[in-house]
Amino acid sequence: MAAIARVCDSQRFIGGPEVDALERELAGMLQVSHAVGMSSGTDALLAALMAIGVGPGDEVVTSTYSFFATGGCIARLGARPVFVDIDPSTFNLDCQLVDAACSAATKAILPVHLFGLAADMDEILEVARRRGIPVIEDAAQAIGARRNGRTAGAFGTMGCFSFFPSKNLGAFGDAGLVTTNDATLAARLRLLRNHGDEPKYFHKMVGGNFRLDALQAAVLRVKAPHLAGWTEGRRRNADTYRQLINAAGLGGKVTLPIEPPGCFHIYNQFVIRVPSRDALRAHLSSRGVETEIYYPIPLHLQECFASLGGRRGQCPHAEAAAQESLALPIYGELTDAQLCHVVDAIAEFFR
Ligand SMILES: Cc1ncc(COP(=O)(O)O)c(C=O)c1O
Repeated sequence: MAAIARVCDSQRFIGGPEVDALERELAGMLQVSHAVGMSSGTDALLAALMAIGVGPGDEVVTSTYSFFATGGCIARLGARPVFVDIDPSTFNLDCQLVDAACSAATKAILPVHLFGLAADMDEILEVARRRGIPVIEDAAQAIGARRNGRTAGAFGTMGCFSFFPSKNLGAFGDAGLVTTNDATLAARLRLLRNHGDEPKYFHKMVGGNFRLDALQAAVLRVKAPHLAGWTEGRRRNADTYRQLINAAGLGGKVTLPIEPPGCFHIYNQFVIRVPSRDALRAHLSSRGVETEIYYPIPLHLQECFASLGGRRGQCPHAEAAAQESLALPIYGELTDAQLCHVVDAIAEFFR
């Protein structure tokens, strides 16, 4: 409340010291040279794609199993999203399929670090290097996730983050961020988020209003120092779920999320897989356990992308995940008794 009052007293609601300070603090935390605040994770993706000039005639290779914004931003710029199947054990882009999905028209590769687990970046970065194209990471769900000592969002040319309230670091509304180690791109992102305006009312390029609100920046500055502790809480809950689910003899019925060697999963979501997902979800709801389905329809089968010719069977792993995945409550404040209640309710369903 003090931080909000500080902004109100200053009357600096657009840009200003809170946004500048947050950008500096997050750049340090995420181990990148530049962090550029944006109005949402969606606008972060849009601005990043605009910054490398994605437009009509271009293709961008990405995962079909993601939040809509990942594909929607590519299409909004008149480019073609090329949707690739996932590795069923991680829900992330199957990196073995990426090279074959690329063509002469490929302008970028856009992997998603889904649910808080960093994608296998080695192969993706190698394909991108060989083809001389940038990698834009959708790290909206993965702030603080690591793989082999590197931070999600710092592998590629740019990393895009969301501070939607359900994220590990959530604002009091919409907010986002693009990170990069490239000073030229950072400058372009700053222009793009403010209608390409430099100096005022002289427009160097066509951008948008993608500015991060100073009130959100002030709130995020208060919350950011707590992020590591909150993420530890989620990781502890994930461990407890694993122990309880295995102790209840549910190991053969429920497929648990994995944390591959070298990975630090931040569990923005704890997503299990069960063939009878919808019935289990209804049962859990009757026991007061709220769950969510991320995501019921992969992007290649979305109605708005029908003109791209996506068909059922094209990405079998993503299509199966869309039928079977169920996100259990995972936020750090859950008590052991609440975690036991969730697992007891799952056990009851299978009895
Ligand atoms: C994977 C992914 N990409 C992009 C976004 C878009 O972020 P926002 O909701 O802040 O626009 C989200 C968040 O919802 C997301 O989960």
